[in-house]
Amino acid sequence: MRNITGSPVENDDFFERPQDLARLQRELANKANVLLTAPRRVGKTSLVLRLCERERSAGRTAVFMNVEGCHDELAFAEKLVDGLNESGLHPEALSRISLAFRKARKALSGMKVGAAGVDMDMGTPEDPDHSTLGRALESIFRKIESAETPVLLAIDEMPELLLALGRQAQGTERVSRLLHWLRALRQTCRTKLRWIFLGSIGLDSFVDDRSLRKTINDLIGLHLEALSDKEASQFLTRLGESNGLSLASKQRSLIIKRVGWPLPHHLQIVFHAIVDSGARHVDAAAVEAAFAHLLQPENLSQFDTWRQRLDEQFGQSDANAAKDTLRHLCQHPDGRTRDQILNALMSTRQSADPAAVEDQLSRLLLMLQRDGYLLENDSRYAFRSFLLREYWHRREIR
Ligand SMILES: Nc1ncnc2c1ncn2[C@@H]1O[C@H](COP(=O)(O)OP(=O)(O)OP(=O)(O)O)[C@@H](O)[C@H]1O
Ligand SMILES: [Mg+2]
Repeated sequence: MRNITGSPVENDDFFERPQDLARLQRELANKANVLLTAPRRVGKTSLVLRLCERERSAGRTAVFMNVEGCHDELAFAEKLVDGLNESGLHPEALSRISLAFRKARKALSGMKVGAAGVDMDMGTPEDPDHSTLGRALESIFRKIESAETPVLLAIDEMPELLLALGRQAQGTERVSRLLHWLRALRQTCRTKLRWIFLGSIGLDSFVDDRSLRKTINDLIGLHLEALSDKEASQFLTRLGESNGLSLASKQRSLIIKRVGWPLPHHLQIVFHAIVDSGARHVDAAAVEAAFAHLLQPENLSQFDTWRQRLDEQFGQSDANAAKDTLRHLCQHPDGRTRDQILNALMSTRQSADPAAVEDQLSRLLLMLQRDGYLLENDSRYAFRSFLLREYWHRREIR
């Protein structure tokens, strides 16, 4: 297990998560389609890559697609076709469609382009007309549905695509059409085709914000958590053994306690910092020094994604209120009550309607908990990760 601190991990670098994997496999066996929700950096992508690997070794087909960077329906469709193509499914039909897509990309002709972007309408089985993007794709999915081998499609970063699409002309309508189209597809091809959606922005928050919940209400929600203390200890044992720095139980506990919330990613970066410091003996001072190193100005950018995502995910008013909330909370390790946070928000929003700010705060506190920023304990809200709290403090306060 190498000490990897950023990209998804595979093969021997993957620390097994047998229970989480089994939960996913159970749902697939029950013919469910899954929405995997989790705070960021918990290891969603790595886990689903592992699941795909398992599916393949069981003789099934699994296609993993990251749709981050796709900004419209055509790019999404191209990604789907490329993914299916790589898995060797229906090569002739796919290459015909790929060709049509390339032409469409060039001229946006040959496919109906409606006022709301590229037409995602579903066709009917009797309708041989592949003139719309949706229908062309659907013909492939019907082939999969009538073949022997089950196919798993894992779509990573779907909300990123939807956010990008939403910013385009007639974006709101196009997002809604794409989500409706996908839902219809799941209903039509429900025997052989399984879907898993995952992403670093919650798809559930995204659809709730836009009253589109019904477009995903057929998905079974599974939540992935950080590691338990026991798993975190095993994780550090393996990391230590594979990287020439064996850690005794006391040393592992020290690290886990200091991290506060054992995200695999945070364990990896703390371990990396300890190795980097050249410490021979891992004691409290060495762990403290590793933290101090991670919080040096030149290392802070690795946490910046946690701040940037707020701007990407929320409108300006919500993003500002979320940042103000976190700025307030990073100064209070023991947490603050909802009223105390509200007072802090009102102090910079003196002309705002208190009821509206209270409403906004309630919504945001829920989302910030769901996304792993905050934890509620005894009606007090606090940063979940000590590392993240200290990062916030460095960035915002000093
Ligand atoms: N099972 C695992 N074994 C070892 N390291 C892991 C594991 N899962 C996650 N990590 C660590 O976390 C990092 C991020 O993993 P991954 O990209 O899978 O998370 P993610 O939840 O998809 O993140 P994001 O929210 O940014 O999309 C990896 O680079 C690695 O350091
Ligand atoms: Mg990911």
